[in-house]
Amino acid sequence: MPSPKLKTDHRQPTTGSLLGIEHLDQQTICGYLQLAAEMEKRPRTAPPLLPGRRIVLLFYESSTRTRVSFEFAAKALSATTTLITSGASSIEKGESLIDTGYTLHALGADAIVMRHPSSGAHWTLSRALDLPIINAGDGMHEHPSQALLDAYTILKHKRELKGLKITIIGDVYHSRVARSNVFLLAKFGAEVTLCGPPDLVPDVAAVLAPGVRVVRSLQEGLRDTDVVMLLRIQKERFIGRRLSFENYIAAYQLNAERMRWAKPEAIIMHPGPIIRGVELNSEIADAPQSLIREQVHNGVAVRMAILAKALGAEK
Ligand code: NCD
Repeated sequence: MPSPKLKTDHRQPTTGSLLGIEHLDQQTICGYLQLAAEMEKRPRTAPPLLPGRRIVLLFYESSTRTRVSFEFAAKALSATTTLITSGASSIEKGESLIDTGYTLHALGADAIVMRHPSSGAHWTLSRALDLPIINAGDGMHEHPSQALLDAYTILKHKRELKGLKITIIGDVYHSRVARSNVFLLAKFGAEVTLCGPPDLVPDVAAVLAPGVRVVRSLQEGLRDTDVVMLLRIQKERFIGRRLSFENYIAAYQLNAERMRWAKPEAIIMHPGPIIRGVELNSEIADAPQSLIREQVHNGVAVRMAILAKALGAEK
């Protein structure tokens, strides 16, 4: 195998990359969702789609669901995976992101799935490397595979996204999951409400996409909603803020009584990790209309679709 050449055209990410939802069109998103449905039905005995392909899982931040589901997805397609975490690699020795990328390319990687604390790190890497780069979360920017699996999960329970009322509650400001979901849902005509205190949901969040509104009252945010999406709340985010952690819980924690403000058939979602007793109580986490574990389950099929498409094996 000849050693890979350095990329010469730095303007575009490599074909097959998935860097974010913001710049995808409806057709591309539908393509991922349809392929995920095929992947879910794929018998285990079907001919392998990615035999011997090498997929690197490059995780500069901790992860459970996202990492394991990308790994299981790759293995379900017969690809080989290698996990690199920042604590146990040359990253710790000070190697730059791009040099790590060149190294992985020279070793024969076919694609890189990366989680990185800096927003935009994937753009930087994908402009430097002739390899498909898949964003598994970049800083406070995007988490496209989560938004795709959330849409996939919603569509198993609701007919279409158009006109659907979706309320996202919690720390929208720091959430890449919220941003990717807002971009995706708004593209399909869902009515998105962002709900929380100003420190976690600034007014300006309403300009993320058309049809997005910001509300402060949980009752107003939940009224008539079809889908409730909760976000993880971190205690550290309240240091030096006007609102205390305890007051957040008092005003915004979802419980069964408050859930009655939503439509009776409303579904409950959360990207995980959930913190019982903070953004939700156990009654909600384990309620029949909670899809939290189904989301995790669907993540494997959706990530199989992302990897198959990244490596041109979707046909
Ligand atoms: C999220 C993340 O890391 O962005 N988790 C996930 O990937 N399912 C959300 C979070 O950490 O709160």
